[in-house]
Amino acid sequence: MLEIFIFAFLHALAHGVQVADVVLSCSFVEEGGGMTGAHFIRSPATVVLRDLPMNTDLSPETITPYIPPDTPNADDLIFEATASSVEIPEAESLLHADCNEQEVTCELSRYIPRGTKPDSVPAHFIASVQLEGGGVGFTLVLQTIANENAESNTASLMQSKLQLPLSQWGTLISDVVFVVFSRSPSVAAPIGEDTVLDCGYRQRDTPAEQYVGLEWRWQYRGQGRTILDMRETEAGTFVEVDRDGASANSTLLVTDGNASLTMKKLKVSDEGTYICTINSGPFQTQQIVQLNIMQPPRVFFSENKITFQDDSPQRLTCHCERYYPLDVQVEWFSQLPSETKSISRTEGASLSSHRQHSDGTFSLSSFLIVRPSEHPPGTVFTCRVSHVALQTPSEVILTVHTPEPGPFTSLLEYYWMILVTLILSILFLYQASR
Ligand SMILES: *[C@@H]1O[C@H](CO)[C@@H](O)[C@H](O)[C@H]1NC(C)=O
Ligand SMILES: *[C@@H]1O[C@H](CO)[C@@H](O)[C@H](O)[C@H]1NC(C)=O
Repeated sequence: MLEIFIFAFLHALAHGVQVADVVLSCSFVEEGGGMTGAHFIRSPATVVLRDLPMNTDLSPETITPYIPPDTPNADDLIFEATASSVEIPEAESLLHADCNEQEVTCELSRYIPRGTKPDSVPAHFIASVQLEGGGVGFTLVLQTIANENAESNTASLMQSKLQLPLSQWGTLISDVVFVVFSRSPSVAAPIGEDTVLDCGYRQRDTPAEQYVGLEWRWQYRGQGRTILDMRETEAGTFVEVDRDGASANSTLLVTDGNASLTMKKLKVSDEGTYICTINSGPFQTQQIVQLNIMQPPRVFFSENKITFQDDSPQRLTCHCERYYPLDVQVEWFSQLPSETKSISRTEGASLSSHRQHSDGTFSLSSFLIVRPSEHPPGTVFTCRVSHVALQTPSEVILTVHTPEPGPFTSLLEYYWMILVTLILSILFLYQASR
């Protein structure tokens, strides 16, 4: 697991906008050839995002300033990037991630824009920054800035791995030229509802005639297909959709950089990983959005009350109906009338197997055998169901009722009565026939 540090240094600009430097510890990934075939080599790297505008008020005391190394080192990989002309949405969530102990993953590699050669100058890099457990996810394209010092001073230090000139303080100075992001890279929604999978992009140099391409691809357990393919071309907008009720707005795509996918009437089969790919100018970059279907169970008893008419045990059935995903936990509790405060867990319940419905949801039942000797009238049974789609467990209760005072208090007496009636009838008929 990658260890992440985020330091930030706040400074106030003249206009009163707070800006901060965010420092991410990343890994630089490169393909290594060799006899054993292609594999990846990871080296530690640092990305310093300079002067990010912050919308929320931050107290400077909570933030540690980033200090570049004292002596420049040719082996260090420090990318110092300004995002002055490209807005990175919700950049402040990166600062909060540190406080919330959220894991941040950052991976960096070489990037070759369309129409450029692998070793061309300026060089490009792509950084994917993802916050675990919500927040924001983005993929940045960094472009190195020609170092004036390097021109005049041939003694300028070269980064050992990349063979690129370093700044006086040992960093690779670059600019963010393109970003694809999602403000909600993880979405949970119930069946039947509509949802929007958020994706957008920002570009530094927007060409005069902007032809943007958007592709949304769905992947789930080794399967995959293109859900939406949209291209703005000279001839107009071309759209191909492979899911009923999926759409993106081509106007917003061009004018606002909004590439969000609207999905109507969610189904279990929509669950999966969605890849939003933006094609604009020389760049093609992606961002992932995870969609999880969450349908809470409907919980109910098949009995509406329990009454013990005799000494025989009874079976209670607690149903959990039409939920998704599969995992559900059922617990039973009982509270005797004598113990008004304490509630005890009741063991010995059994479970049915899962049943899957045609819409992909599941149902399950739990059974509990209850005995009149152990559970006098007034005993309250609780069936508690926990499921990922429920914020708090769902509970249903059932109370043991006092048997209604009928003419016969037990089955045995009932049989006796039938027998006596039968004998009397036979005797009567016998008398009558004489
Ligand atoms: C796209 O968004 C614009 C601006 O919100 C709106 O006016 C337009 O009706 C939308 N187009 C479609 C096809 O929904
Ligand atoms: C992007 O467009 C979708 C509709 O396609 C809309 O629901 C969403 O609010 C828009 N997002 C932003 C940030 O404007």
